[in-house]
Amino acid sequence: MNDRIVSPGQGDEDFQETSLRPRRLDDYIGQDHVKGNLQILLEAARKRGEALDHVLLYGPPGLGKTSLSLIIATEMGVNIRMTSGPAIEHAGDLASILTALEAHDVLFIDEIHRLSRVVEERLYSAMEDFALDLIIGKGPSARSVRLPLQPFTVVGATTRIGALTAPLRDRFGAIYRLAYYDEAALTRILRRSARILHVEMDEPGTTEIALRARGTPRIANRLLRRVRDYAQVRADGVITRQVAHAALEALEVDERGLDPHDRMILQTIIQKFDGGPVGIETLAASTSEEVETIEDVYEPYLLQLGFLARTPRGRIVTRLGFEHLGLPYHTNPSAPTLWEPVPEEG
Ligand SMILES: Nc1ncnc2c1ncn2[C@@H]1O[C@H](COP(=O)(O)OP(=O)(O)O)[C@@H](O)[C@H]1O
Ligand SMILES: [Mg+2]
Repeated sequence: MNDRIVSPGQGDEDFQETSLRPRRLDDYIGQDHVKGNLQILLEAARKRGEALDHVLLYGPPGLGKTSLSLIIATEMGVNIRMTSGPAIEHAGDLASILTALEAHDVLFIDEIHRLSRVVEERLYSAMEDFALDLIIGKGPSARSVRLPLQPFTVVGATTRIGALTAPLRDRFGAIYRLAYYDEAALTRILRRSARILHVEMDEPGTTEIALRARGTPRIANRLLRRVRDYAQVRADGVITRQVAHAALEALEVDERGLDPHDRMILQTIIQKFDGGPVGIETLAASTSEEVETIEDVYEPYLLQLGFLARTPRGRIVTRLGFEHLGLPYHTNPSAPTLWEPVPEEG
């Protein structure tokens, strides 16, 4: 799934992301609401000379969670230790990470919803009391020792806020949701990236890429690199609207940023399930995709475009979705006509 040009997940060539990552809050484009709140949080913590409150960042992949965590550490002038939920296998792993932290350091836990239960429970008290309860010894002579820790900040990132347990969520003083970027923000991100990569790109060329980037900076940057290749091989190296358009057509990314995989999902629902409703498990089975991939990667953007809708009985393709594929709209005659919309999480 990561070989897709429009996959929001990190791919092999995204190692270049390092050079494109914004370093300071001022370079971090868009997400003004989050930035505004974070600015206050940072300033208040700095004024008091305290560790920053624990921060939870959530939203689809590629929207800037990891970048923001690095910025938080930079703005606080502290070290950052980066790890992820699945990487902390045992309570002992957590203990050695936590005891190595210096005062006010940031511990970034990516995919925090994938922490094991045991580790998660240890983390609660560590986050709350800056202390770690350890069991020393075995059997009847075992005793519990409380190990004090330096005050530190957990920055957690997740694509699935709903998969977090309530007690863990409650330990975070600030919870920020990253939203898809609008065209204006993506345009600014692309301009900045083109400058860093020394690519010449005109205004209409920038817009052409921004419109197909699925509201996602990581995809915008990836499309930019591929269009740059095309411009260098097939044109004079300058990204104009025509060059961008031709390159993106060649990459099979359509004018709304959908690739063949997305269209296949919509087509499957229309052709095999009469437009839906179809349950997520059934959809996954008939498209040979993982349920989690559909839920985290395809669905959020298709929902955002209004091409897909969630109903209590499964997913349906909307009129807009039919129209995008150039198919005549119809609904499943056996489906109830009145839909109870399912509330979006978050
Ligand atoms: N607000 C932003 N401004 C500029 N570039 C951004 C922004 N957010 C993300 N990016 C770019 O997108 C890439 C992916 O962001 P990342 O923080 O790794 O996303 P996530 O951790 O949410 O998957 C970064 O390397 C950076 O180049
Ligand atoms: Mg990340």
